[in-house]
Amino acid sequence: MTTVLLETRRLVKAFGANRAVDAVDFTVQAGELLALIGSNGAGKTTLVNLISGLLQADAGTIVFEGRDVTRQSIHERIEAGIARSFQLVNLFDQLTVADNVALTIFARQGKTPHLWTVAARDTVVADEAAQVLRQFGLASKAGMPAAGLSQGERKLLDVAVAYALKPKLLFLDEPTSGVSTREKAPIMDVVTSVVRQEHITAVVIEHDMDIVFRYSDRIVAMHQGAILAQGSPDEIRRNEQVTTTLIGSPPPA
Ligand SMILES: Nc1ncnc2c1ncn2[C@@H]1O[C@H](COP(=O)(O)OP(=O)(O)OP(=O)(O)O)[C@@H](O)[C@H]1O
Ligand SMILES: [Mg+2]
Repeated sequence: MTTVLLETRRLVKAFGANRAVDAVDFTVQAGELLALIGSNGAGKTTLVNLISGLLQADAGTIVFEGRDVTRQSIHERIEAGIARSFQLVNLFDQLTVADNVALTIFARQGKTPHLWTVAARDTVVADEAAQVLRQFGLASKAGMPAAGLSQGERKLLDVAVAYALKPKLLFLDEPTSGVSTREKAPIMDVVTSVVRQEHITAVVIEHDMDIVFRYSDRIVAMHQGAILAQGSPDEIRRNEQVTTTLIGSPPPA
């Protein structure tokens, strides 16, 4: 049995004459790992910006767990259980890896540390941050400034920071962009094992179709602000409209 966790109805966002999200009905089922695909400029990030509250919709509604959140602030949506990572990582480079996670935990608890070092002195928060870093394989880097991480580790830390908000629904905007092909699968192995273990519903924006087919339960394909197709990895692999429009080549044998 499937339960709808999130649903957008006729959601619209235009930038001038450009309808980046054009009357989109997008549904996420509880517990699934959904891949959101589409060529550059398809509207994927804009859709996630609307759902996470970074952008206000021009029209349409966003319903999360049966409640209309369309006009809620980012913070209200985080409290409701919606979190996201960014296409370009959003880290405090001078802070340690552990403090980057600890700050999110403070924010989640509605506290503002007056000094960055407060995080280190709050043992409950520090313990939770250490636990998150262990889950993401970053424990050995805890004391290092975030600037000292490799690109792959930075991408993982950015996901860990969003995960530390304890969301029910986690949006990951290109968690493997900017890293070598060889590093993509190890990152996805870590991310998917954490979200599955913690029963977090995840929507992953991803361009690499090998990664998409390998890790997702279901795929939604966007094109020019609209949903072009959705279905299981097998259905999408066989969908000629998707393969010609988005992948630009016939489906792999
Ligand atoms: N803040 C903005 N102001 C004006 N236009 C924008 C803005 N953000 C996005 N757009 C436009 O909206 C459209 C959708 O952009 P969006 O970033 O959502 O695409 P995307 O699917 O995430 O692409 P990519 O795969 O390149 O990240 C594009 O035409 C883009 O130029
Ligand atoms: Mg994008």
